[in-house]
Amino acid sequence: MQQQPAQKSDQLVIRGLHVAVEGQEILKGVDLTIGRGEIHALMGPNGSGKSTLGYAIMGHPSYEVTAGTIELVEADGTRHDLLAMEPDERARAGVFLAFQRPMAIPGVRLADFLRHAVTNVRNPERKEGQELMPMKEFRAELKAKMSELSIDAEFARRYVNEGFSGGEMKRAEILQLAMLQPRFAILDETDSGLDADAVRLASQSIARIGSGGGQAGHQMGILIITHHEQLLEHNVPHRTHVMLGGRIVESGGAELAAELHKRGYERIRAAFPEAAAAEQAMEDAARNSEAAGV
Ligand SMILES: Nc1ncnc2c1ncn2[C@@H]1O[C@H](COP(=O)(O)OP(=O)(O)O)[C@@H](O)[C@H]1O
Ligand SMILES: [Mg+2]
Repeated sequence: MQQQPAQKSDQLVIRGLHVAVEGQEILKGVDLTIGRGEIHALMGPNGSGKSTLGYAIMGHPSYEVTAGTIELVEADGTRHDLLAMEPDERARAGVFLAFQRPMAIPGVRLADFLRHAVTNVRNPERKEGQELMPMKEFRAELKAKMSELSIDAEFARRYVNEGFSGGEMKRAEILQLAMLQPRFAILDETDSGLDADAVRLASQSIARIGSGGGQAGHQMGILIITHHEQLLEHNVPHRTHVMLGGRIVESGGAELAAELHKRGYERIRAAFPEAAAAEQAMEDAARNSEAAGV
């Protein structure tokens, strides 16, 4: 068989990233490159900095980048400095974060929210107040996506995340993902609070969306932060990364995720005593600031 030339693709490139929250350093030098079309799993004990990485990529104002770079590098080599962009500009550039704990937006229906978001992402030059994507077109697309994901049609009429169960929040996120078709998606514990069947359904939906339902050219780069093996069932990671004490200490293939699911983090802590000590120090700091009522 003839060797195909390597397919060039867009990349999300993170180098030497340090992030502080309330003056305390949480991420201590993270390097990570995700190509479009790749699935990366990010694992690690609670408090190791996984969500912090997601927030820093999206530009949450509480997460201060003190060193390092986050760039979106297009297939043709064009570089975009995400750190110089506001969160909405990052979204328009095609980066999406599904929060671990999404906020409710009372009074805003999911369908209206999605119509705004989709319009903005598809017309990055759009100014607030300018026309939205035509209702008819939007409704047809929403309906098709919802039926594809087996989501009840009534669901889009509800207020965003208001009174949603854990499962419904995740379904809303997956619907956003399907409608926005970002270039890069960070799914932060899309599985928390779900039972095993719901996690399996989420896994299947993410796999279908990530591959663009089989359409070429719609491939996403996905960073899945998860504790559940089931979420990876239909999204076998190309790479698995382990975060400990604010650093990625080890990377491997799908077998690394399987090992961690089976045996936990003891081997990792023993192999990286410095990171394990940093983890302990972060835990102590979090406990102390809690005790001080901060
Ligand atoms: N908004 C915040 N305010 C204060 N401390 C935070 C905040 N976000 C994260 N931290 C601290 O940063 C550390 C890493 O947290 P996080 O990124 O949520 O870890 P993970 O997602 O791996 O469980 C923890 O010690 C946590 O207390
Ligand atoms: Mg987290």
